[in-house]
Amino acid sequence: MSTDKRTVARTLAKKAFAEGRPLSWFEEIYDLARQEGAAVPWADRIPDPNVLPLFEAIPQAEPLGRALKVGCGYGDDAEWLAQRGHCVTAFDISPTAISECRRRFQNSKVNYLVADLFTVPAEWGGQFQLVWESYTLQVLPANLRPEAIRAISKFIAPGGYLVFASRARNIGEPEGDMPWPLTREEAKEFVHGGLSEILFEDYFDKELPPVRRFRACFKRESNQPTLQTPSSVTPTADVPVAPPPGAADG
Ligand SMILES: C[S@@+](CC[C@H](N)C(=O)[O-])C[C@H]1O[C@@H](n2cnc3c(N)ncnc32)[C@H](O)[C@@H]1O
Repeated sequence: MSTDKRTVARTLAKKAFAEGRPLSWFEEIYDLARQEGAAVPWADRIPDPNVLPLFEAIPQAEPLGRALKVGCGYGDDAEWLAQRGHCVTAFDISPTAISECRRRFQNSKVNYLVADLFTVPAEWGGQFQLVWESYTLQVLPANLRPEAIRAISKFIAPGGYLVFASRARNIGEPEGDMPWPLTREEAKEFVHGGLSEILFEDYFDKELPPVRRFRACFKRESNQPTLQTPSSVTPTADVPVAPPPGAADG
């Protein structure tokens, strides 16, 4: 097996899909990283700089409420939320990833849990003022995404927010290899989960070559403080036209 980190992940994903177990390769890749020092392709071990600007869009109620990080990986985004003052739950399907979070952040206030998005406890419904989902949907097969989007939408309390990020493509553009970019239509499915779209940005990042991405903020409506639109992200009413796709390999 190749030692290139993305190739290893793609090989594991392809095999798991072919065997009809599309959720099992996450633990395999984290376990390989633990045992053999293999790199996890998405683990930069820093809070995601593509997502942090979205938080300027969310009114700062005091005290800050409960926050949920979906597919938390090694925990850097969850720790950022906790340092910001949220009471954070973070979950991942991979037990090895969650043990690594607990090992890395031994004095953490984050409640790290092993859980599968598709079978989380029903009592999580409507419990979170802030939910952060980045890059989980794009590593799930397209046929599981609608259910995943419904599950994520359900977590959000009235007046609460969803911060969302993924890789992006147009309908008709090939998905390519894992990670599989979402279309605008797929990302809009959150609206069918009862959320309003507050911000939606379709942009190219600063990687070389640049990667096309979506980042967005959704809200479950109630009588909450008015939105403050930050200067660094684009309101939905003014969605930019993306430049032609770069040569991103996923
Ligand atoms: C592409 S990674 C992104 C990790 C993290 N959000 C980040 O930005 O670094 C997707 C994560 O979602 C987790 N995951 C995939 N399917 C899941 C599921 N059904 N339930 C919970 N976590 C899942 C994977 O184990 C992996 O850690």
